[in-house]
Amino acid sequence: MNAPLNPKFPFLLHGGDYNPDQWRHVPGVLDEDFRLFPLAGINSVSVGIFSWTALEPAEGRYEFGWLDEVMDRCAERGMAVVLATPSGARPAWMAQKYPEVLRMNWPESIPPVRNLWSGRHNHCPTSPVYREKVRQIDEALAARYGKHPALAFWHLSNEYSGECRCPLCMAAFRDWLRKKYGTLDELNHAWWSGFWAHTYTDWDQIERIDPCLDGLVLDWKRWVSHQTADFVRAEVAAIRKHSADAPITTNLMAHYDGLDYAPIAREIDFVSWDCYPQYHERPGELEPLAAKFGFSHDYMRSLKPGKPFLLMESCPGPTNWYHHNRLLRPGQHRLKSIQAVAHGSDSVQYFQIRKGRGGAEKFHGAVIDHEGTEKTRMFREVAQVGRDLQALRPVLGSLVPARVGIVFDRESDWAIKAAAGPCDAVKQHSFDTAIRHYRPYWKRGIPVDVLDGDSPLDGYDLVVAPCLFMLRDGFAERVERFVEKGGTFVATWLTGVVGPTGLCFRGGFPGPLRKVLGVWAEETDYLYDDERNSIECADGNALGLRGSFGTDTVCEVVHAEGSQVAATYGSAFYAGTPALTVNRFGKGEAWYLATCGDDAFLDAFHGALAARRGLRRALDADLPEGVCANVRENDAGDRFVFVTNFASEPRTVDLGPAPRKNLLDGAVLSGSVVLPPFGVLALADPV
Ligand code: GLA
Ligand code: ZN
Repeated sequence: MNAPLNPKFPFLLHGGDYNPDQWRHVPGVLDEDFRLFPLAGINSVSVGIFSWTALEPAEGRYEFGWLDEVMDRCAERGMAVVLATPSGARPAWMAQKYPEVLRMNWPESIPPVRNLWSGRHNHCPTSPVYREKVRQIDEALAARYGKHPALAFWHLSNEYSGECRCPLCMAAFRDWLRKKYGTLDELNHAWWSGFWAHTYTDWDQIERIDPCLDGLVLDWKRWVSHQTADFVRAEVAAIRKHSADAPITTNLMAHYDGLDYAPIAREIDFVSWDCYPQYHERPGELEPLAAKFGFSHDYMRSLKPGKPFLLMESCPGPTNWYHHNRLLRPGQHRLKSIQAVAHGSDSVQYFQIRKGRGGAEKFHGAVIDHEGTEKTRMFREVAQVGRDLQALRPVLGSLVPARVGIVFDRESDWAIKAAAGPCDAVKQHSFDTAIRHYRPYWKRGIPVDVLDGDSPLDGYDLVVAPCLFMLRDGFAERVERFVEKGGTFVATWLTGVVGPTGLCFRGGFPGPLRKVLGVWAEETDYLYDDERNSIECADGNALGLRGSFGTDTVCEVVHAEGSQVAATYGSAFYAGTPALTVNRFGKGEAWYLATCGDDAFLDAFHGALAARRGLRRALDADLPEGVCANVRENDAGDRFVFVTNFASEPRTVDLGPAPRKNLLDGAVLSGSVVLPPFGVLALADPV
């Protein structure tokens, strides 16, 4: 059996953000919470996330009594505490005494301005004073609770995000640049800074992030990620001084584009993330949304290969921050919770357990509502998930056996956003494009990992790199080795355009991938929103694709250089030129989509590729629309298949002839089974 993330707590966690420090003045609440926890099947709480002032009301004066009580009560009941460091929000006394802990924004044309103390996530990641204050409180927490029997995991800070442009940060950025480039000449070449007379002749001239140099913008974003990772490293070191064992994580956000999470993931023991899907959307929008959040789970999980992740936050009810905070339909809470487990989570955690009476989140969903009892509908739905997670205990520690890797590279996403052109319409779409290529696998129940341009490719049968605008150094060589050895690689338009500092490749696109793909992309036609070309499949193409499909709004005009043409364009002056090619290279093949095609094309194309590679599906059956199947396996050979119905109507699924046990209710199932709207199954091996 694979080891759980913390073997001392061998169960799937069910709980979430819990703020008893905000209720200390209200007698009886703590007792009531601990009465309600078992009724909701809650076995874990995440505490201390925003508790700095409660823990250190004045500089150097600590008050741990309230936390001792929570920790001890949890220990008595065998509950798991996820203990946070409070660095996500700092006390007023600190900002008053040491203004440098606050962030400075540096908007265009005005001198640097220091933020006032307000909100949260408002700290400078470089400030030595802030780092020292964080070290002190982290060490104090670790010294006091590092060996506490209830301590399961450390939760560093909260959703690290944002940036600071104070003089300390700018100086640290310049130091980082000096280390990276050595000389200003190197830096000037890398950024093409002769443009608009931007050549730097002194390091101190680098004082603002000028958007006309996208190389500078890219390096700034890398530095923000680097500095955040460095801050994380400092928090880890403070904790590890007194707490040797409990694994450390921080809660990430899949949809946040301000950080490259790879350097941060390297500093922590496992990944956790905060997931807020709106499954109360209209029918018809549910399936794309489900695929989007399926992708997001896979993206987060893949940051730490070979480990489960934790769903650190999700909402037991409506949030308070979507434009429409619709109610979750009955069953949807269970559905999204099981979806996370199906994609590799060993927990279902919430923001939040008890709804606060005031502050900015008093209308955000919670397990315990203002009404205060177990009588609410959401409480009952949470309790159902509690029972489910107990029944799913055999799944603990198991992994997702993906043979497909989809490349979504945050640096490449930044590079396309930072570049002026080539077309505004493609700026915001890297994430959505990756999901469009993911969805055909998701629909078929084929597990996928999400990679970046630095990830190892060994172990995959198929790697799909949609619109990989920026190539990291060495990526093309790794693709060549992967294909030579028998891998299948797919690239698309807008791939291999720039290198890591945004400089366009010379010698024809897709740059260093030109050889393995056997194409030269000469020109690109960006169509109007309502305009389309067509993809005409060539007779006898290797995938057996037939007929005609629509393009999307981008059509590259490409030349096959030794590759075979599998489809051509139907109209425009480039009618008859390649829209899809395949290049045999060593033992493998490399496909190039000069246009991504419409959804029908992508489904046909990836479906045929999956069949050609013989990729194993979670269920050996075609799934009806809105139904997804996922698989987790452990090294004892157990195979768990999750079937989730995102449609608001019943769906019939063929489970095949072998009887299997639904862990959620013990029923033994085979053959054709009807799933109710938002129904879920968790099948264990044949009984
Ligand atoms: C984030 C934060 C939480 C809370 C929730 C509300 O995920 O981490 O503190 O603000 O959003 O949805
Ligand atoms: Zn700063």
